[in-house]
This record gives sequence, structure tokens and C-alpha cells, in this order.
Amino acid sequence: MTLILGIETSCDETAAAVVDGGKPRCRQRIISNVVASQIDIHRRYGGVFPEVASRQHILSITPVVEEAMDEAGASWDDLEAVAVTYGPGLAGSLLVGVNAAKGIALGCGLPLLGINHIEAHIYANWLGSKERDSVVFPVLCLVVSGGHTELILMSGHGQYQRLGGTLDDAAGEAFDKVGRLLGLDYPGGPAIEQAAKHGDPTAFDLPRAWLGGSAGRHRYDFSFSGLKTAVLRIVKAHEPFGLAQDKRQLPVVDLAASFQMAVVDVLVEKAKRAAQEYGAEQIILSGGVAANKLLRREMAKRSDLPVLCPPIYLCTDNASMVAGAAYFRYQAGHRSGWDLDVIPNLKLTG
Ligand code: KG4
Ligand code: ZN
Repeated sequence: MTLILGIETSCDETAAAVVDGGKPRCRQRIISNVVASQIDIHRRYGGVFPEVASRQHILSITPVVEEAMDEAGASWDDLEAVAVTYGPGLAGSLLVGVNAAKGIALGCGLPLLGINHIEAHIYANWLGSKERDSVVFPVLCLVVSGGHTELILMSGHGQYQRLGGTLDDAAGEAFDKVGRLLGLDYPGGPAIEQAAKHGDPTAFDLPRAWLGGSAGRHRYDFSFSGLKTAVLRIVKAHEPFGLAQDKRQLPVVDLAASFQMAVVDVLVEKAKRAAQEYGAEQIILSGGVAANKLLRREMAKRSDLPVLCPPIYLCTDNASMVAGAAYFRYQAGHRSGWDLDVIPNLKLTG
């Protein structure tokens, strides 16, 4: 057994988990996975309020770590290392996790590993899955979350080449903003997915930003602001009829379904093309938006390559993915110093 305690506080989830990295060629096993979500607190602001998030992390971090250790039935002596997200994310939120991890590691005489949040999302694909042994590099990673939309070519453990990313809103951010425009619940991603179930995805012809088609410099970049503006225009055009029981009322479910399809089209096509151009063997999805069933389904349907996605509960922020990613770094001899600091705009590649 190689038990690693993972801690994650980069945004609005306070999370701790104990993961058994096992031995090479064995599956990683999640022993405990505790997530204290702040969604209910941030709902009233319609987005994450950074100052409130960091204060909430301070209140939650000790009970969450204790719960993860209790659930795992582990004592501090059983741990092999402590891993923590040190970026990218909100500075005040990251600081809470990093300082808690340092305190535990120093107090227990354990090695400390600072982990990149995007790398952690990618490694959610290795957790508890038989697929872990069948991942064949190079792999094309599509990381889609509230803060990131990245296409990354992974040629081995810890080896990344960034092919492109969003030029404006992240995919999850676009879901959240459009959710708000449509008067849906927060966060917008799951709410739009739910509403879209009852809607017609062809009802509105919304724009797709291909950015240079299949050859231009930006061919693997993304832009969702035009799409968001197109939705806003439709919402505004229906506004005068909004309150009346009128046929001209905003068809929310159709607009949700059309928006979701527009985002999925672009994500799937760009990932597919990049995988082809760079000779990837597989495509892996990760990040909160990878919980979207249409995205999972369309990616698998339209790609000739095997597509891996984490189980839904490991797509959104959690600490198992932090401990899981740390296992590979730990095995490769990586250790962080006691001067580990948060890096809010940390990149995956140089
Ligand atoms: O990975 P995550 O928990 O946090 C970040 O690292 O940003 O991702 C949260 C994002 C939110 O924007 C949320 O709306 C989106 O993931 N999301 C979804 C779904 N579930 C969560 N987007 C689309 N469909 C979903 N089912
Ligand atoms: Zn995340």
C-alpha cells in the first residue's frame, strides 16, 4: 500500500481524500473521498465569491481532512505522503489547502507534493479504473472546467504539450453564464443539461467558433463569447413577453439544448482533429464539464479512438484526483520544499 492524503481547495470545494496508489501495474484505489461543496453559499452571488470561498475553506478544512482520515480508517503513520493543489486557482482558497498540507506533512514527517490542478483533473482518469493499465500514450486530453478549456497532448506521465485553449470564457464558465441568462439554477452546467433533456437542440442555429478552420494558428483554440452573446440576443428579444403566458415566451429548454449542442460540437470536433493530427492513441476527457452526458456520448460516437472519461463524481473538483496524480510524481521522485507557495495562474507546460 502507498497511502497518499490529497487536499484540494483551489476554488469552491474543500476536499480531502486518501488514495492507495498501490504498486505499479495495480489499480489505484480511492479509500476515502470527502468533498464539502460551497455551491449553496455561492448560489446567491451567481458565481464564486473569492473572499467568501477562502473563509469557508478555513472553516471546513480541518473537519474535512479528519473525515477523510476517519473514513479511510487510516492513522497519520499509515500515510506515505501529503499532496495538495498549489495552482491554478484562487489565491486565498489555495493558501488554505497548501498551509494545511504543510502543517500535516511537517508535523508527521511526511513528504509534501504540490500538484497542478489541471494535471489532477487529467489523472482522475486513472483512478479506480481498469483502464489505467490500458492507457497508451500519446493521449489527447480535453480538460473542460469552470476555469479551463485546454487541449493537451500527453506523451507520457507528466509530459504535456499544450495545443490550444480558450481565448475568452472557459466552457464551464459559458455554461454558468448562459444558465444565469436563462434563469436556471447555479451552477449552470448541470442545470442546462437537465433543461436540455426536454428541448430541441436544432431549435436555434447558434454560432460555432471554429477559429481558423482546420489549418489556422488558432485551430485548437476556443471562443465561447460569441455564442454567449447570441444567446443573450435571443433572451433580450423575448424579454417583453417574458412574464405573460404567451407563445412568444422564451423557449428555455430549446435554447438550453441548442446551446449545449453548440458547445459540444466545437469541443468534440477540435479534440477529434487534434488527436488525428498528433497521432494520439486515445482521447481522455476531464474537468467538471466532462460530467456532461452529451459531451461524453458525442465524443465516443464521433471519434474512432477509444475515449476515456472519469466517473461523473470525479469530473468536478475532488481531492482523490490530487492524490492520484501525486502518486505518479511520488514514484518518479518528485518532492516539494517547505517553501511551496500558491501559483494562481500556474501553467501545465512551460
Ligand atoms: O472542475 P470543476 O468542478 O471546477 C473547476 O476546476 O473549474 O468544474 C466546474 C464547472 C462549472 O462551470 C459547472 O457548470 C461545470 O463544471 N459542470 C458542467 C456539468 N457539471 C458541472 N457543465 C456541463 N454539464 C454538466 N453536467
Ligand atoms: Zn477543477
